Amino acid sequence: MAIRVAFIAAECEPWAKTGGLADVVDALARALGQLGGGALERPVDVFMPHYRGMREPAGLTRAEVRIPDPLAAGSELVVGILSVETHGYRLHLVDHPPAFDREGMYGTPDADHPDNAFRFGLLCRAALERLRHEERPPDLLHIHDWHAVPALLQRDAVLGHDAALAGAAVVLTIHNLAYHGWTPANRVPELGLGPGALPRGADGLDLLRAGIERADLVNTVSPGFAAEALTPAMGMGLDPALRARGDRFIGILNGLDTDLWDPATDEALAAPYSQADRSGKARCRKALLATLGLDPADPGPVLAMIGRLDRQKGFDILAEAAPSLLERGFRLAVLGTGSHEVVAPLRAVALSPAALSRIALEERFDRDLARQMYAGADGFLMPSRFEPCGTGQMIALRYGTPPIVRATGGLRDTVIDVDTRPGAGTGFSFEGETAAELTAACARFADRFERGGAAWEALLERGMAIDFDWRSSSAPAYLDAYRRAIGLTQMPRITSR
Ligand code: GLC
Repeated sequence: MAIRVAFIAAECEPWAKTGGLADVVDALARALGQLGGGALERPVDVFMPHYRGMREPAGLTRAEVRIPDPLAAGSELVVGILSVETHGYRLHLVDHPPAFDREGMYGTPDADHPDNAFRFGLLCRAALERLRHEERPPDLLHIHDWHAVPALLQRDAVLGHDAALAGAAVVLTIHNLAYHGWTPANRVPELGLGPGALPRGADGLDLLRAGIERADLVNTVSPGFAAEALTPAMGMGLDPALRARGDRFIGILNGLDTDLWDPATDEALAAPYSQADRSGKARCRKALLATLGLDPADPGPVLAMIGRLDRQKGFDILAEAAPSLLERGFRLAVLGTGSHEVVAPLRAVALSPAALSRIALEERFDRDLARQMYAGADGFLMPSRFEPCGTGQMIALRYGTPPIVRATGGLRDTVIDVDTRPGAGTGFSFEGETAAELTAACARFADRFERGGAAWEALLERGMAIDFDWRSSSAPAYLDAYRRAIGLTQMPRITSR
């Protein structure tokens, strides 16, 4: 049976992005549409907010839906939905200026928007309203992270009678277990769940927990992290809820959009290259050094780090290790944004005399520079404290830039340490959350980098040869999960055990 799938998510690349969630929503939606065998009845519908200043595709057409105003009983809100089929899926931007026409997708650098329950509740309710009036409503609703959980709760609380939606199976993907969408009791009415949404005496609603408890299937984005999330040490308070789901909680490793991330066709690069002919990589390195103002005569290896500069990503561990890395001869190229407290220590190191033209700290979001760094750096750093999957290490591998990662979650699943398995290794990994262990892994990197030769080239080649294409295994695994979830909803529900 060809199934119909709709996504609800807060981000989707290239329209609006703060992290890997956006890459996955975009790439998975497209890859599902490309699977053979008529798996999908039509392209995936992707619902996301119409944020201020976002990139917009051409050809959007506008429709409107009416939804109950959660803030004023008995009245309605008219919400725009801007739609276009593009990039291999049907994109729908939920347009409601009071909710989304403001600075910050989730909040300001200092705090979340106080009305996020209203904002994401509205995203979900408008999506459901649109879907239930379609000729063929979805068989499967795929909700991503806490922002989309209100859809599941609204469906059950106020639209359960609606035949079009009642039968849809729901898969929840947890991209980041650290963000629960905690909604304090006084904000719960904004979610549009009607009366009785909050259990008596509760001081608020943990949306991610509610999604875990109620979705037909729950997954996170790597098998390694799925196992870790079941433990009190890594479960972020939700490990009991995840354990309670038994085999309905699974790990599916993310893929990579190998068409978007290909050094042979990447237009941002100074020169293209491929696994078979890597000569262009040296030109990319030269161009990167010039762009970043790093000394071309300095023989020290250049290590890059890209992304959110926060504690999850271990940016503070890098800042602590930076002085000893400089001493060992490394150069650092860092691109991303983060809160002041987290970035300040590296800024301080970057201003020291030893760092002169040896540390480039670029505090911004820059798609082209990110690509130039993946290609031009010698090694790629991901000292994450936890990592549900991680995208950077996969891109780095594909661009022939060996990753140096902390062995956690998806990083453990995707990077093989070359000193542990010399004939199979693709990078360097370390266990502890310490600057000393990061520095030691970088030292192992430098030893091999400086020795160079065939062994170094083989390391790069093995990384570049890995098939991360979504269409190869990740998207088929989601399709299996969808079919399983649909089967589960069609079985009589077992309510007690
Ligand atoms: C979140 C996680 C990251 C994962 C991404 C996409 O950003 O922190 O590990 O790769 O979501 O699933």
